Amino acid sequence: MEELAVGPLDLAARVDDALAVQAVAFGLTDEEVAVRRHIVLRHLTSPGARALGATTADGRLAGFVYGMPNDRTQWWSTVVEPYLRAAGEEHWLDDSFVVTELHVHPAYQNRGIGRRLITGLTDGAGLPRSILSAIDAETPARGLYRALGYRDLARRVLFPSAPSPYAVMGAPLPLRRR
Ligand SMILES: CC(C)(COP(=O)(O)OP(=O)(O)OC[C@H]1O[C@@H](n2cnc3c(N)ncnc32)[C@H](O)[C@@H]1OP(=O)(O)O)[C@@H](O)C(=O)NCCC(=O)NCCS
Repeated sequence: MEELAVGPLDLAARVDDALAVQAVAFGLTDEEVAVRRHIVLRHLTSPGARALGATTADGRLAGFVYGMPNDRTQWWSTVVEPYLRAAGEEHWLDDSFVVTELHVHPAYQNRGIGRRLITGLTDGAGLPRSILSAIDAETPARGLYRALGYRDLARRVLFPSAPSPYAVMGAPLPLRRR
C-alpha cells in the first residue's frame, strides 16, 4: 500500500487542494468551498494556528487537519459557549486547542491517517485539552474521536446556517494511543 507522509502543511498555499479533499470527504458544494476558503485563510491568521497534511510520494494531498488555541471571541466559540455553560462544561473553552477541520480523502480512509493527523496536531499544541465539533450522528469521525478520548460535552448544538445539529466533544491532551 502507498506510504503517506504526515507533516507540517502550508495550508494557506495549499488551501484549494485541502478544500478539494474536504469536498469529496465531507461533501461541499462549489459555493460552500468558496465560503470555506475565506474562513480557512482568516483562521490561519489566528495566533497559534497550525496545520498538518498527509501527502503522497508525488506530493498530492490525501488529508489534512488544522486548528488553533480557542479564542472566546471567535464565532465558533461564541456559538458553543451557551451550550457548554448549560451543561456545566464551560471551562473547556479555556486553555483548549480547537481542532477546526479534519478530512481524509475517501481513497485513503481507514488506514490510520486521520488518527496520525489529529494526534500529531494536538501533540504540538502545548495545551492540556482539546475541543471540537462534529455532526451529531454515529459517523466514522465520532468513532475516531471517542477512540482518542474525546467525550460529549454538549449535543444538539445548532450553528446558524448548518442544517444538522452538532456535538461538541472534549479530550485531555495528549490524546489516547491505541
Ligand atoms: C473522520 C476521518 C477523518 C477519519 O479518517 P481515517 O483516516 O479514515 O481514520 P483512521 O483510519 O485514522 O481511523 C482511526 C479510528 O477511527 C475510528 N473509525 C474509523 N472509521 C470508523 C467507522 N466507520 N466507524 C467507527 N469508527 C471508525 C476507529 O476507532 C479507528 O480506530 P482504529 O485505528 O483503532 O481502527 C474520515 O473518515 C473522513 O475524512 N470523514 C469524512 C469527513 C469528516 O467527517 N470529517 C470530520 C468532520 S468533524
